[in-house]
Amino acid sequence: MNKKMENLTKEVNQLLSEAIPNSDLNTNLEESMRYSLEGGGKRIRPVLLLLTLDMLSNDYRAGLSSALGLEMIHTYSLIHDDLPPMDNDDYRRGKLTNHKVFGEWKAILAGDALLTKAFDIIVNDESVDDTSKVKLLKRLAFASGHLGMVGGQTLDMQSEGEGVKVNIDTLEQIHNAKTGALLKFAVMAAVDIAKPESNVADALESFSEHLGLMFQIKDDLLDVYGDEAKLGKAVGSDIDNDKSTYVSLLGQQGAEEKMTYHTQEAYDCLKQLPDKYNIENLTYIIELFNNRES
Ligand code: IPE
Ligand code: IPE
Ligand code: MG
Ligand code: MG
Ligand code: MG
Repeated sequence: MNKKMENLTKEVNQLLSEAIPNSDLNTNLEESMRYSLEGGGKRIRPVLLLLTLDMLSNDYRAGLSSALGLEMIHTYSLIHDDLPPMDNDDYRRGKLTNHKVFGEWKAILAGDALLTKAFDIIVNDESVDDTSKVKLLKRLAFASGHLGMVGGQTLDMQSEGEGVKVNIDTLEQIHNAKTGALLKFAVMAAVDIAKPESNVADALESFSEHLGLMFQIKDDLLDVYGDEAKLGKAVGSDIDNDKSTYVSLLGQQGAEEKMTYHTQEAYDCLKQLPDKYNIENLTYIIELFNNRES
C-alpha cells in the first residue's frame, strides 16, 4: 500500500469507528453493526472512491460520506452473504461471522440497519451540494438494489447447486452485478461530485467495470488457491456450495487469463485520460487488485 492509500484507509477506519454510537434503545444492535463494520476489512471501495476523487479534483473530502456509506452497504452485504441460507460461512475479516456471535435474526437486522445508515450518512453531509447528493443517492440505490448487488446475489444463489452450470455470459452478469456494481459506484460517485468532461466519465466507467470483474475473478481464485490466514475467511466455500465461479467454469488457467485481459483493459482505460490527471494512484489500485492475496 502506498502512503496516500495508507492515510486514507486510516481516516476511513477512524470515521467508521465513530459512525455508529450506542443508542438509547435497550438493544445491542449497534454493537452488532460495529462488530462487522470495524473488523479488518481492506476498505478498498471507500479508498478507491477517495483516490478517484482526489485525482479528479485534488480534494477527496466531499467524498467521505459516500465512501463511508459504500463501506456500510458492502459490510451489510457480507453479513447477509455469510448467513446459513446463503453461503453459510463461519469466518469473516479474521473473526467469527456476525450471526455466529449475535445470532441470525440480529445479523439480519444489523445488515438492514447498515443499509439504511448508508443513505442517512450521505443525506446528512452538509459539505455536498443537494444536486450532487441526489445523483449520489440515486446511483447508490441502483448499485445496491435488485439491478445491482442484490440482483447479483440472487443470480449467484440461483446458480449454485449440484449439476447447475451457467454459461460464461451469465457468470459475467453475476459478477458485474454482485461485485461490480458497488465498485462502479466507488468510481462514479467521484465523477458525480467532481463532474469532469464526459470522455473522462466514460473512460472511468469502463475502468470501473474491468476492476469489478478483476476483483471477483480474483476472489474466486483465492477461494480455491488462497491462504485462509491471509484472507480472514475460509477457503473452499464455493466448492462446498457448488457455486458457479470463474474457476469452476474455466479452471485456474482460464480464470487467470481473464484476469490478465481485464487488467490490461483497465490500464488502457486510464491511459485514455487527459494528461492533466495523475493516474499513479489508480494504476496502483490495478496492481493491487491483480496481485492481492487477501
Ligand atoms: C469480499 O470483498 C466480497 C466480494 C465482493 C468479493 P472484500 O474482499 O473487499 O472484503 P473486505 O471488505 O476486505 O472484508
Ligand atoms: C459476495 O461474493 C459478493 C457480495 C455481494 C457479498 P462471495 O460470496 O464470493 O464473497 P466472499 O467470498 O464470501 O467474500
Ligand atoms: Mg456469496
Ligand atoms: Mg460468500
Ligand atoms: Mg468468494
